[in-house]
Amino acid sequence: MINNESSSIVILGASGNLALTKLLPSLYILFTSGALPHNFVISGYSRTSMSNSEYRKLVKDNLKNNIDETLWVEGFLQEFLNTIHYYSGEYNSVEDFIEFHKVLDSISKNFPSQPNVLYYLSIPPSVFEPVINSLRECGAVTKGDLSTSVIVEKPFGYDTESAQALGKTLDQTFDESQVYRIDHYLGKEAIMNLMVMRFANLIFEPVWNRNYIDSVTVAWEEDKNIGSRGGYFDGAGIIRDVIQNHLLQILALVAMEKPSSYDSESIMSEKNKAVKSIEKITLENCILGQYTHGVCAGKPVVGYIDEESVPSDSKRETFAKIKCAINNYRWSGVPFYLQAGKALTKSTTEIIIQFKEVPGDIFLSPHHPNKMVIEVQPDAGLKFFITNKVPGKGMVLKDVALDFSYVDGFNKTMPGAYERLLLDAIQGDKTLFIGYEELIHSWEIFTPILEKIDSGKADVFYYHAGTYGPEEANRI
Ligand code: BG6
Repeated sequence: MINNESSSIVILGASGNLALTKLLPSLYILFTSGALPHNFVISGYSRTSMSNSEYRKLVKDNLKNNIDETLWVEGFLQEFLNTIHYYSGEYNSVEDFIEFHKVLDSISKNFPSQPNVLYYLSIPPSVFEPVINSLRECGAVTKGDLSTSVIVEKPFGYDTESAQALGKTLDQTFDESQVYRIDHYLGKEAIMNLMVMRFANLIFEPVWNRNYIDSVTVAWEEDKNIGSRGGYFDGAGIIRDVIQNHLLQILALVAMEKPSSYDSESIMSEKNKAVKSIEKITLENCILGQYTHGVCAGKPVVGYIDEESVPSDSKRETFAKIKCAINNYRWSGVPFYLQAGKALTKSTTEIIIQFKEVPGDIFLSPHHPNKMVIEVQPDAGLKFFITNKVPGKGMVLKDVALDFSYVDGFNKTMPGAYERLLLDAIQGDKTLFIGYEELIHSWEIFTPILEKIDSGKADVFYYHAGTYGPEEANRI
């Protein structure tokens, strides 16, 4: 049962980058806004040997760099740090887990009720299995008991088979109802708004299909190079890093049917059906690229193969454009392009809905079909391009944008995705998390090309860092 009075979050991998730069700053923001349960404790567990006060100092230093300075309130800060406890231990040691849970129990023994415990696996995939097994064997988790649950971060495997193996490991310890598979893109405001835009407005749904829409593009760009992440990235590539998860989730929300109600089961079921209808990708529908030296965000960068810890003969893709086909009644014949690249001109994520030409156009002045651009980041908003008459003589037409920006429209800064998703998980709401079936279907779409890419059977085209990607991307 979900207990809204007392709650405990355990971050496994507490000294890592995700914990320090995203999870703890998000928990701090939730704490300052009063959103967390009254009795709340954060425990960090990882291998690095550190005292409680050393860990709190590390958290404090990282908070400073990762929250808006207006949120830095000394009083709150000290109170927040006091809720944090650190324990160092091995991931495969049941004894260490038993000792850690004794400490946890002693901290929460003064709470009015037994807290729910949410375990956050902020750890490398290589230690998923030992950690999950240790949690079971130390007696901390009982399968099916909703007072304990687990958040799992990507990568959820690296292909269909490994994702199924991870599923089995989780299933030995947790019931699916206890598992929260996080994709932080689902917690971004513009992504959460996709369903609202489609299903709370009358005007979009009638045209949201193959009769009116010519193509859909989800374009993701970053102006950062790989830098010190080479060790991880070279084993993954941009398809596993961003396309198979973040961009596919966006595609699912654009393509899905209307759920019967706004609850996690109905939404997961419709997303799952949409993902299941996507055809497996072939290499013919995929252009891959790798960056060479150039200039990104004003700074010179070396080529991918010259990055730290990237093998000098690597063929790993840092850019990909993929054409997907959805084999269902609504979308048959409409291409969905998923495009992502590192070391490009800027950092943006956009969804472009390209409408078809007006049949039997009567105007001589050239104009374009309607287009909707949903801007996910950095400035979330929506632009809808419509054709208008230019005031004055004759009949000259021009495309202009109806422009909505979240910040201006709501006069609010955008909350971070992790804040939203952590709070949902603490409150037991799975609406914005990924179900097991959907995850497996999402791997089935990409596994055939990933196998070919991994074995060097795919062409890779080169582009200079700081450009739009390889020219060949225009071929599809
Ligand atoms: C992560 C990827 O999942 O998402 C990174 O591993 C990427 O490579 C990041 O940079 C992008 O997230 P955001 O929220 O900064 O767009």
